[in-house]
Amino acid sequence: MAEENKSSLDALTSLCKRRGFIYHSSEIYGGMPGFWDYGPLGCELKNNVKQAWWQFTVRGREDVVGLDATIIMHPKIWKASGHLDTFADPMTMCRDCKKLMRADQIADIYAEQKKKPQPKAAGADFFCPYCGGELTEPKPFNLMFKTVVGPIDDPSNVAYLRPETAQAIFAQFQNVTDTSRQRVPYGIAQMGKSFRNEVTPRNYTFRSREFEQMELEFFIRPDEAVELQYGRVVTLADKPDLDGPVQDDWGWEVWHKYWVEQRKKFLNAVGLPTERFVEYWQKPDELAHYARACVDIEYDFPFGRQELEGIAARSDFDLSQHQKFSGESQAVFDDPLKQACKKLTDAQKAAFVDKVRKDLAARGKDPAAAEKFCAGLFDGKYVPHVIEPSAGVDRLMLALLCEAYEEQKIAGEKGGEDVRTVLHFNPKVAPVKAAVFPLVRKDPAQEKMAREIFEKLRRKVNCMWDVSGQIGRRYRRQDEAGTPWCITVDGQSVQDGTFTVRDRDSMEQKRMSYGEFLAMMDEALEF
Ligand code: GLY
Repeated sequence: MAEENKSSLDALTSLCKRRGFIYHSSEIYGGMPGFWDYGPLGCELKNNVKQAWWQFTVRGREDVVGLDATIIMHPKIWKASGHLDTFADPMTMCRDCKKLMRADQIADIYAEQKKKPQPKAAGADFFCPYCGGELTEPKPFNLMFKTVVGPIDDPSNVAYLRPETAQAIFAQFQNVTDTSRQRVPYGIAQMGKSFRNEVTPRNYTFRSREFEQMELEFFIRPDEAVELQYGRVVTLADKPDLDGPVQDDWGWEVWHKYWVEQRKKFLNAVGLPTERFVEYWQKPDELAHYARACVDIEYDFPFGRQELEGIAARSDFDLSQHQKFSGESQAVFDDPLKQACKKLTDAQKAAFVDKVRKDLAARGKDPAAAEKFCAGLFDGKYVPHVIEPSAGVDRLMLALLCEAYEEQKIAGEKGGEDVRTVLHFNPKVAPVKAAVFPLVRKDPAQEKMAREIFEKLRRKVNCMWDVSGQIGRRYRRQDEAGTPWCITVDGQSVQDGTFTVRDRDSMEQKRMSYGEFLAMMDEALEF
């Protein structure tokens, strides 16, 4: 859609409130910053986004299975993952107006300010962007929400609401491996609520304190195991075919790029064209300590370019940490690897250990670890590495809403110009798939037939019934909800069983039978 017809975030938020997509949480009590509720259309959109992700990531593949773990887990999980010690933002407070803010966001807040405050203290370069007052020294503020498990409010009973769904997948890795008949390389996916006590939640639903994630941890062999088993490790320099079936001899770099491409395919499939997002490869000094590579897929929201999802190559960091903190082995046994290693001579094994020692040193790791690691490999054992595509449901919904929103200038019914507000959702995620109307409400034959179609169709997809007002107004209401098709039963319908189907985007109408409509709809909704 044309860029100039896209509206600001204000117009979108107003539509979202008016049409029941998004409300402030606890609004009758003044709301809660950073918490949002999804209304009737919003929760349908959300369910569709989640179902699409699950279909694309889990059910549509043979090498990914699902998990639904608890939000509150053993607190040691967060010690092992590093969240207890390092999951913090630098927080500062204004000594004058007492506003709390993230020290690393002050420049952004200042830039957004229409009326720029001047520092109250002469020459201060770190001052409150709201009133110019003096700011306290930034202190790390842990983002995890704390709670107490059981009736006794004691530090020994403190637990945390999960700040990411990923850690439950690592903690259940052995159970899933033992019970799912999957072997590495394979993935475990989870969708669910996560919580981060953001210092300053901002940008509508983009940075919320309670939000939902869709995460996949795809476990792969370490490159050393691939090399021992296949005698080679395919890298990106080999130009592997990432659109074809996955291959056992891929190294981590190829798997990472493969998942970046898969995520782009998914975003395309739910309605974000490739040219609307940016693939940002983090530079080595931007990477988290455990990551070997990370790609952010960024989208141009009305408030600026922001990360929509991240695809990280996390090495064996997470499983190794849980192995260390729980004392439970997180290694897998790979018999084909053991059999391949049996064929090696002692000299070949010694040369391999030497090579691994040098690789570890080159990556800044302890070369002394090579001996034990290789002994495990020769025995068919290793702790898997992981590629993590991590997406936020709420962020993706916001991007889809921004992308779908358009105010079109069209000819008015009574002459002049009119504005048509329309949400061009891909039918796969559209909250309502079809609306059904009788053209003339008071015509009992039309109403009866329309009602029968509606009752049949609602058993398959979410549809809406509307008899109120002129047909033009009914179409407009559906345009604002993003409904792709409006079915209108008219005089001819009663004679020959066909009806008109009005397309939301072209506004063109086609006459169809029920069977023809179902075939067209099924094709549009299929992944
Ligand atoms: N698991 C990655 C994240 O939550 O950002």
